[in-house]
Amino acid sequence: MQVIHTISELRDALATHRQRGFVPTMGNLHDGHLQLVRQARELVGPAGAVVASVFVNRLQFAPHEDFDTYPRTLARDCELLEGAGCDIVFAPSENELYPELQGYKVQPPAELADILEGHFRPGFFTGVCTVVHKLFNIVQPTLAVFGKKDYQQLMVLRRMVAQMALPIEIHGGETRRSAQGLALSSRNGYLSEAEKVEALRLSRTLKSLIAHWQAGERDVAAMEADALRSLRDAGWVPDYITLRRQHDLGPAVEGQPLVALGAAKLGSTRLIDNLEI
Ligand code: PAF
Repeated sequence: MQVIHTISELRDALATHRQRGFVPTMGNLHDGHLQLVRQARELVGPAGAVVASVFVNRLQFAPHEDFDTYPRTLARDCELLEGAGCDIVFAPSENELYPELQGYKVQPPAELADILEGHFRPGFFTGVCTVVHKLFNIVQPTLAVFGKKDYQQLMVLRRMVAQMALPIEIHGGETRRSAQGLALSSRNGYLSEAEKVEALRLSRTLKSLIAHWQAGERDVAAMEADALRSLRDAGWVPDYITLRRQHDLGPAVEGQPLVALGAAKLGSTRLIDNLEI
């Protein structure tokens, strides 16, 4: 496996590979990321190249968020990536990816990107779309794999690729969970042992929202309000708990595939999770 830090070296290394599977990450990897790499390997075949990027993208962090403290663990990430079948790690410096102020940005439409995560993290999806579009231009992958854990991100990026006619297949990777059911996340490292147990309440709350829908309840606003209340009663600060249509995250409607999504702060750690029906 090669570890490459510059765009020109990456382009040289990729020149002979037509089939390229790409997994963009911000590092501090866990088994969820490695599963995306294994999926990319499977999809691209033994002759294709699997590229993973490791870059903590300043553009998607608000000033009060954890950009400065976000764990940077490149040496360990590279070991894990090699074990998962990655061929090339692209780990550019900030100066390599943003040598000047990134004034040109990719702005996703408000109806997709200013709801849910985008409502609570204004500008987040512009930061994500801008860096992913730029990474796509650099790597020029034939396919890319993103985790379903960041459900809205996957949807926003799928639409970007479709609207911009980028010749890249986008694949979603299933969320990996601990044996107890906690969705793996780089931010779980911020949780104390007691918080790791309490954190399971988020997926339990989403399961219970789904159970109410499956039992025939249709007052979604009341169901969501109950779910928010139960999290607040347990000391959480929830941003949203909601039941939506899968394809565009519009309101839940009978007969369409749905997804329950939630984001909430436990102590100082913001967690997100989702479950498809
Ligand atoms: O999901 C992430 O880790 C990031 O949002 C991504 C897609 C690597 C862009 O920085």
